[in-house]
Amino acid sequence: MAILPIIEAPDVRLKTVSTPVDTFDDQLKILVHDMLETMYDANGIGLAAIQVGIPLRVLVIDLQPEDEDAEPEPCDHDGHHHTHQPTKREPQVFINPEILDPADELGTYQEGCLSVPDIYADVDRPKTCRVRWQDLEGNSHEEAMEGLMAVCIQHEMDHLNGILFIDHLSRLKRSMALKKLEKARKAA
Ligand code: NI
Repeated sequence: MAILPIIEAPDVRLKTVSTPVDTFDDQLKILVHDMLETMYDANGIGLAAIQVGIPLRVLVIDLQPEDEDAEPEPCDHDGHHHTHQPTKREPQVFINPEILDPADELGTYQEGCLSVPDIYADVDRPKTCRVRWQDLEGNSHEEAMEGLMAVCIQHEMDHLNGILFIDHLSRLKRSMALKKLEKARKAA
């Protein structure tokens, strides 16, 4: 496994429309494992393959909060006092995802993105949707999504179509975000 470098805006590769996966082989498994390791290392909750420079329709998501930020819970179930971390990782992998039946009703959520570091902005998206996808073996799944999961999957789906969350903002807000990003990069 490897932590991969994350591409940041305004890199033109982020505008790529990614290609469907048609071979469910070990190489795909390695890519997914590397993407998960990269996402956890960057404290993100979602990552699209194009964000590590691979133009394939592959997403990883884990909405669980980071273990290190969680309150340890005291526990003495076996007679010894020790602490348990209450959260554990719940990685989800989406190959060739499709959004179906997006709700007419919109919800607003303050989004961020590992490819647009330290920029956060409110984005409106359909509140619920259905998602159809394949797993690492190529089996198909379909599920209704709501809440943060609906937000996250739609944000990540956008990456597969070359769209960033700042592209949903007004031209003025988007250019302000890009300027802020450039300034932070120069300062670093
Ligand atoms: Ni993103």
